[in-house]
Amino acid sequence: MNTKKVGIIGVGNVGSTLAYTLAHKGICSNIVLKDIRENIVQAMALDISQSANAAKSHTVVTAATSGIELKGCDVIVITAGLPRTPGMSRDDLLVTNAKIMESVLEDVKVYAPKAKLVIVSNPLDAMVYTALKVTNFPREQVIGMAGILDSARMSHFILEKVGYGAGQIESSVMGGHGDDMVPLPNYSTVAGVAIPELLSKSDIEDIVTKTKNGGLQIVKLLETGSAYYAPAHATSLMVEAILHNQRKIYPCAVMLDGEYDYENIVGGVPVMLGSNGVEKIIELNLNEEQKALFANSVSSVQELVDTLNTKYFQK
Ligand code: NAI
Ligand code: 2OP
Repeated sequence: MNTKKVGIIGVGNVGSTLAYTLAHKGICSNIVLKDIRENIVQAMALDISQSANAAKSHTVVTAATSGIELKGCDVIVITAGLPRTPGMSRDDLLVTNAKIMESVLEDVKVYAPKAKLVIVSNPLDAMVYTALKVTNFPREQVIGMAGILDSARMSHFILEKVGYGAGQIESSVMGGHGDDMVPLPNYSTVAGVAIPELLSKSDIEDIVTKTKNGGLQIVKLLETGSAYYAPAHATSLMVEAILHNQRKIYPCAVMLDGEYDYENIVGGVPVMLGSNGVEKIIELNLNEEQKALFANSVSSVQELVDTLNTKYFQK
């Protein structure tokens, strides 16, 4: 049995599914849930904790009524914010979710200043930037979840095309979590075979387009919100890697400080996750075309950050 504690702030679709996933993996002893919808979150804590008992997991889930209950958290996941609905881009959420991010981080700064933060709220890269700016935490401590989700979507679309290799597909997506994300076919494999060896150029272009639109496809079908099963599972992998010092490499959104020739901007890159949060940033040898696509994606994130800096942080 381990004694790790995880906080989840924002317990809607992603937060509650994450709590359920973590409780059933049994990778921590306590999960504390915090949301402005206090009754609903109490109900969720009871329900998920009882489901953990049914599964004979040792994880106990509680609902926090004040920030002090975040004390002792090793990792805090932040999903508080509004999700996208049809007709909204992730960027429409910018200032609204920055305000929410700033407010929920007040408690974190006071009660859990050493916790590693996994940010999920959108627009993701700009929210990682916001979290770093309002907490002043070191960049190793604040990490955004998106790349694992986007890569899982790419794997799904690769599987649709090749028709075999389920569970053996590794995909790689870099850049911001937006329309300009950069799926990398030559770093994506089926059982170790790079997909350009298995699929035609037009099939690969189709996979890239579908990956970029993967979130939107679900938003349009759901009508009332955005995806949560894959996002929650992707987040659980990051939490597990940090809690248990797994030193696994995942694509994550981090503040760049010279890597890939960028600094003071958040970008999605391969990161080794361990008990310190970011243990190492891996620099791939991108070709000229990939560098240009990455530059384009980073500049989209920069635009959002510039808007935040003028419209929100100058308030
Ligand atoms: P949701 O609407 O189901 O849940 C959001 C929760 O945040 C609600 O329970 C709400 O009460 C809570 N909340 C709002 N203000 C709060 C505050 N000040 N303090 C505490 N809780 C607060 O939305 P869902 O689907 O769970 O998505 C959450 C966020 O994650 C959205 O911004 C969404 O766009 C983003 N997202 C990001 C993904 C990624 O890949 N990075 C993937 C999926 C969602
Ligand atoms: C997604 O990609 C909305 O960012 C969320 O599903």
